[in-house]
Amino acid sequence: MRYFIANWKANKNLNEALDWIDKFLNLPSRYDRIKMVVCPPFHLIHPLKLKLRDNKFISLGTQDVSVFESGNYTGEVTAKSLKGLIDYAIIGHSERRKYFQESDEVLTKKVQLALKYEIQPVYCVRGEKDSIPENIKIVAYEPVYAIGTGQNEDVEKVIEVKKKLNLSEKVSFLYGGSITESNAQDYLVNSYIDGLLIGGSSLDPDEFFKIIKLG
Ligand code: PGA
Repeated sequence: MRYFIANWKANKNLNEALDWIDKFLNLPSRYDRIKMVVCPPFHLIHPLKLKLRDNKFISLGTQDVSVFESGNYTGEVTAKSLKGLIDYAIIGHSERRKYFQESDEVLTKKVQLALKYEIQPVYCVRGEKDSIPENIKIVAYEPVYAIGTGQNEDVEKVIEVKKKLNLSEKVSFLYGGSITESNAQDYLVNSYIDGLLIGGSSLDPDEFFKIIKLG
């Protein structure tokens, strides 16, 4: 299974999100070997979910879940409340580690809560030194210098990092960082990389479509 995960970050309003998804509603059945996951901001999940009813190719995910299970935590969105709405959650993205000071301890709690509520974490690491919590099935390697800079990391280096991470064979390994339609193929032609986590190039549906066509 090849993953193509769109990380919209803090972008798109309701109309933009609905227009984007229209492009993907009728994917031909040859796309059944890919798993496309759209991770919009929280407020867009439900309207997209309504649009995606019965769609078997496209899943929804979030870009985070709360470290709390439920209760008096103003502004938080919990895994418990997201159960049934999403199948995946990006956890540990370097932007959250940097701007929201998320520690390994916090990230481990988030992973546990996601799993408790049947949400598959897409666990992001910045390199081989980041620890990975137990029971993670999808790891996304995203070198910080490559995110949003146009400086994607060479495939050989990505593979080296994968080897150092020493993942179980059952874990899917994704790469993210300045993926575009012109470099995506380099990552997809080898069996070490099981998919891509895509930020900037996922915002334009035409560009994202060109990338998933490579899968
Ligand atoms: P980018 O972002 O594709 O814009 O580099 C990737 C990410 O941060 O997930």
